[in-house]
Amino acid sequence: MTIEGKIPFLDLVSLHEELEPELIPVFQKVLRTAGFVGGPMVEEFEREFAKFCDAKYCVGVASGTDAVRFALMAAGVQAGDIVVTVPHTFIATTEAISQAGARPDFVDIDERTYSMDPLKLQEYLEKECYLDRESGRPFNRKLKAPVTAVVPVHIYGQCADMDPILELARRYKLIVVEDACQAHGAQYFSREENRWRTAGSMGQAGAFSFYPGKNLGACGEAGAITTNDEAMAKKMRVIRDHGQAKKYYHDIEGYNGRLDALQAGILTVKLAHLADWNRKRQEAAKRYHEMLATVDGVVAPYQPEWSRPVYHLYVIRLQDRDGLQKHLSSAKVDTGIHYPIPLHLQKAYENFGHKLGDFPVTEKVAAEILSLPMYPQLTTEQQRHVFQKVQESALVGEFRQI
Ligand SMILES: Cc1ncc(COP(=O)(O)O)c(C=O)c1O
Repeated sequence: MTIEGKIPFLDLVSLHEELEPELIPVFQKVLRTAGFVGGPMVEEFEREFAKFCDAKYCVGVASGTDAVRFALMAAGVQAGDIVVTVPHTFIATTEAISQAGARPDFVDIDERTYSMDPLKLQEYLEKECYLDRESGRPFNRKLKAPVTAVVPVHIYGQCADMDPILELARRYKLIVVEDACQAHGAQYFSREENRWRTAGSMGQAGAFSFYPGKNLGACGEAGAITTNDEAMAKKMRVIRDHGQAKKYYHDIEGYNGRLDALQAGILTVKLAHLADWNRKRQEAAKRYHEMLATVDGVVAPYQPEWSRPVYHLYVIRLQDRDGLQKHLSSAKVDTGIHYPIPLHLQKAYENFGHKLGDFPVTEKVAAEILSLPMYPQLTTEQQRHVFQKVQESALVGEFRQI
C-alpha cells in the first residue's frame, strides 16, 4: 500500500501473502489427514496459547461469543442471574451473557481508559443491590435477581483495571470472566501481587476471539477460553462438544462449539508471530502518540503505568469526530468507530428501559471516538500521511479542547 493509494483500516491481504508459505502446509496436512474437527492440531494450539497467556489451560471453541458464553456457564452462572458488564463494548459480550441464560446489566466506563470503572462497579454493588444473607451475594433491588458475575472488557487491547475489580469480586463472591477478545497478549501490572499479569489469566476464565481482524486472527471464525482451574476447563470441553466427555455419553445438553482443526493449525502458525506483531503495533502506537501530541483537541489513547496494551485498535477522541472522519475518507484514509451506539441505547435492549443519560461517560466517548488505521504492517510513511490529514482537518475545523 503506497501513500498515493488508499490507506486501509486493516490490511489482511498483505499479512496473508507474507504467510502463504507457512499456511499452505497446514491446509495440506488437514486435507491429507482429514482431521477436520478436534484432534492433535487443536490440542497443540491449546497448549501453545495457554502458555502464551500464562494460563494453565486453554479450550478452543468456535468463536469469541461462544468463549464468553461457555466460560460463564462453566463458572456457574444460572438462568435468571445478573451479569454486570459495560455498555461500551461489542454486542457479542452481552449476547453471550444472555445466551448463558443471564440478564446483562451495565456500569459505566472510565473516561480515560474506556474500560469498566471499578468505582462505578462498587457503587452499583453498594447502592443498587443488597447483600443476600443466605448466599452472601448481591441481589439487585430493581431487577429482583442475584448478581453472580462480572465481565470486564479489555477494550482496544488494553486490560481493564483488574486489581479493584478482582477485590470487589472476592468481597461479593462474584465470578470474573475477562472479555479478552481484543487483548491477546496485553499485560496488566497487579499492584496487589507486584507482578505483570497477562490478559486471560486473572479471572476465573478469559475469553478470546480469533475473528480474522484480531491481533491473532484465524482464516474464519474461532475462539478460545483460558483458565487456571482444571475443573472449569473440563466443563468447558464438555459444553463445547454436545455435553459429552465420552462419545455419545451426554451428561448435559451442550453445544456444537468446537474449534476447527484447520483454524487451530493456522492459529499455531500465526501465534509464533504474535509477540513480534504486538511489538510492531506498540511501535506504531508510539509514533502516532508522538505525532498527534502536536495537534490540539485530539486525545490520544491513555496508557496507565500499570498497562502494556497491544493496540488492537488505535482510538483517538475529539469533538469534531464526524468532520475528521469525512476529511480522512476524502483523503482515502479508512477509519472506524468502535462503537457508535452504546449498548444500553441499542434497539435490541429497548426492553431494559434505559434512556440517554444513563451512562454519560460511555455516551460522551461514543460520540467522540475515531479508530485510525492500525496493524503491524502499517508504515511510518503511511502514519505520517494520516497525521498530515488530521493536522489539515484540525486547521480547518479548529478542534476544540475536550
Ligand atoms: C469485545 C468483544 N467481545 C466479544 C467478541 C466476540 O467474538 P467473535 O466475533 O469471535 O464471536 C468480540 C469480537 O468482535 C469483541 O470485540
